[in-house]
Amino acid sequence: MSDAPSRFERLKSELRAAPRSWLVTGGAGFIGSHLLEELLGLGQTVRVLDNLATGKRANVDAVLAAAGPDAARRCTFVEGDIADAATAARACAGVDYVLHQAALGSVPRSIADPRASHRANVDGFLEMLIAARDAGVKRFVYASSSSVYGDEPNLPKVESRVGRVLSPYAGTKAVNELYAGFFQLTYGLECVGLRYFNVFGPRQDPDGPYAAVMPKWVKALLRGEPCTINGDGETSRDFCFVKNAVQANLLSAVAPATSTDTAYNVAFGERTTLTDLFAMLRDGLAVERPELASAQPAFADFRPGDVRHSLADIAKARELLGYAPTHDVKKGIGEALAWYAAQYGG
Ligand SMILES: NC(=O)c1ccc[n+]([C@@H]2O[C@H](COP(=O)([O-])OP(=O)(O)OC[C@H]3O[C@@H](n4cnc5c(N)ncnc54)[C@H](O)[C@@H]3O)[C@@H](O)[C@H]2O)c1
Repeated sequence: MSDAPSRFERLKSELRAAPRSWLVTGGAGFIGSHLLEELLGLGQTVRVLDNLATGKRANVDAVLAAAGPDAARRCTFVEGDIADAATAARACAGVDYVLHQAALGSVPRSIADPRASHRANVDGFLEMLIAARDAGVKRFVYASSSSVYGDEPNLPKVESRVGRVLSPYAGTKAVNELYAGFFQLTYGLECVGLRYFNVFGPRQDPDGPYAAVMPKWVKALLRGEPCTINGDGETSRDFCFVKNAVQANLLSAVAPATSTDTAYNVAFGERTTLTDLFAMLRDGLAVERPELASAQPAFADFRPGDVRHSLADIAKARELLGYAPTHDVKKGIGEALAWYAAQYGG
């Protein structure tokens, strides 16, 4: 191991020395609020655009309160819809970089209401690209998804090999990548797509029918409620702690232009089954709450549209972005559980 600072550490020093201006769409949501937190901590100026469809103003308020008054003055919150051209244009005016996170997540949501997913994830995405192009932003980094691999059977997933998409949600993300490629080729807008693999961490919403499995289970365990595994428990995912996703975004914003016009896997590069995940969460919580040590999950049917296994090859991001994830699933769960226990453990 070399003692040289990582590319991310060097980047953070550069940003502190020469602050820039950023737009984070979806900044009231889970991943977006972590981007806001990191950027404010680095002395950057940040505009947030969010229509609060699934995000919460409380997420922004919590970040601003923790960051302190000086940092809070460097943040502007704009409540609005990315699919509205005038709103998108106002949001992009004068910013150096766009970190586009706003979208309606969830495979089941998109199967239940494909129109709503299309409107936010495709119409909204196109408006953001147009606005970023017209404002002359330096780079457009956007959230894609591991769901674009669809029915591609091989593991680990490599960026060049995608299958047929299995849900409207996956389709919207695949279309995002096509549009981004077109905007770079035709208008010269530098774009980087990040194919997130099951991101988790503090502030991920445990509530509602489309909640991700980890926060849903943690809250249920803390409340003594049942946890349900869809399928036989052998379904596996490459769970990625949110700080790794933040690192990938910032590195993508400043990577050499030769590293743009493409999409990268953003994950840790290890696979955890749902059965093992449940055990890790239960055992982690049982340290403070011994009565949870015997909790067992219930099992239900597989969900339509879900892929069976997911594991990322992260060599491309390592090589071209200098991505070096700092949190494996165990370390990430440790940080996430502390937050959830403080929120819901009382
Ligand atoms: N969390 C994951 O595991 C994961 C995995 C793959 C991809 N992604 C993608 O990452 C991005 C962020 O996901 P997240 O987990 O933070 O979800 P989130 O729901 O917490 O955040 C999304 C944010 O976008 C906002 N939003 C939605 N539609 C909007 C619109 N039309 N105009 C303005 N704001 C709008 C929401 O209010 C919310 O604050 C999304 O693009 C999602 O598809 C997430």
